[in-house]
Amino acid sequence: MGKNIAIDGPSGAGKSTLARKLAEKLDFIYVDTGALYRTVGLYIFRKGIEPTDVDAVAAVLPEIHVMIRFINGEQHVYLNGEDVSKDIRLHEVSQYASLTSAIPAVRQFLFETQRKLAAENDVIMDGRDIGTVVLPDADVKIFLTARAEVRAERRYRELLERGQQVSFEQILADVNRRDEQDMNRPVAPLKPAEDGVILDTSECSFDESLMLLYKTVKERLN
Ligand code: DC
Repeated sequence: MGKNIAIDGPSGAGKSTLARKLAEKLDFIYVDTGALYRTVGLYIFRKGIEPTDVDAVAAVLPEIHVMIRFINGEQHVYLNGEDVSKDIRLHEVSQYASLTSAIPAVRQFLFETQRKLAAENDVIMDGRDIGTVVLPDADVKIFLTARAEVRAERRYRELLERGQQVSFEQILADVNRRDEQDMNRPVAPLKPAEDGVILDTSECSFDESLMLLYKTVKERLN
């Protein structure tokens, strides 16, 4: 059994960038579970299936093979053998991932992949329900958050840097809508684990957030 660190929180809280850095410092593998949900979302998007159509989504799950591979420490995700690591970051896919991730059959479908990775490696796993559902016995559980406006601002800059044309208002509206969806779904809703630590990075620079996270994890990891 590897050592497991669970990092949950809303989108744009900086989980992935911070968790990746932390993994380097601790020599752990970083697993971005959002990428798995995005891969399912991408398949549904490409198929033209309505992401809220529970039966239609569940019916095509057997057609999907999702695999994660680490190349030079970077996570790559494959959809039926195709490296879709870039495509899953498209703005449209976020909404598909959020909606399809609320479907119990989709969560069940990705559960084993996540558990296996954590059992076989020292992992920092980031997502929404890692500390509460996927790895309830994780050695450290962090809930990383920041105010919606701050998260939207960070996401907005990230998309602009990638050359995507978006408005800040649109991103803020998307952030609020996804928070609402992720927190209020009946299965595995986004919420802090009872035995976890909540870190709010609204007022922190990236380096300050990393220091805070590193210190919090180090104190709890024996
Ligand atoms: O972290 P992200 O924005 O890449 O995640 C995309 C969507 O996937 C997000 O809206 C909620 C869902 N997700 C989830 O339900 N459970 C996880 N462990 C990770 C992501």
